[in-house]
Amino acid sequence: MKLHHLHALAGMLAFFLIATFWLGTAATELSGSTAAIAWVKSAILSGMVVLIPALVATGASGFSLGRGMRLPAVVAKKRRMPFIAGNGLLILLPSAIFLATKAEAGAFDTAFYLVQGLELVAGATNLVLIGLNIRDGLAISRRRHASAPRSKAAVRSSISG
Ligand code: HEM
Repeated sequence: MKLHHLHALAGMLAFFLIATFWLGTAATELSGSTAAIAWVKSAILSGMVVLIPALVATGASGFSLGRGMRLPAVVAKKRRMPFIAGNGLLILLPSAIFLATKAEAGAFDTAFYLVQGLELVAGATNLVLIGLNIRDGLAISRRRHASAPRSKAAVRSSISG
């Protein structure tokens, strides 16, 4: 598998997982069933085992693909990545652990809902940032393939300014 395929796959998987966690949380909160909320919180914690490596793989492959490129879309993607990773590692992961532990204990208190609110905001922020990176990635890729007859090295030097 080529690196840009792995990059796209890992990035889209991360987007899909966060969207699923977000919608699962919103749906069960609206249902009001504490059993359903606890189940979703536990499933999200398990899902983190896939989400965090997917984000790491997307970032690492992205920086490798974008090495030496000064195209504005690449610069914008690089700039967004620390916020995406920080949101995932410093907010989504600790929140998932906290919320699953509280839900398992049946402690749906103020702290639970404060952290739940924070997790929903951080998740929505990451969906927007990752969505923008997918949009820019597809545009860079289209541009690269539009000049397919030329060698990859030639395209790289033409877009790295
Ligand atoms: C969560 C973050 C990111 C997501 C979801 C993402 C997503 C994507 C997607 C879907 C593509 C299209 C791939 C294809 O059609 O083959 C792409 C391409 C690309 N991305 Fe990212 N990306 C992310 C982060 C980054 C970062 C941090 C960089 C670093 C600069 C980067 C650099 C690139 C480059 C250079 C391409 C063009 C690859 C090629 O066609 O050769 N990406 N990205």
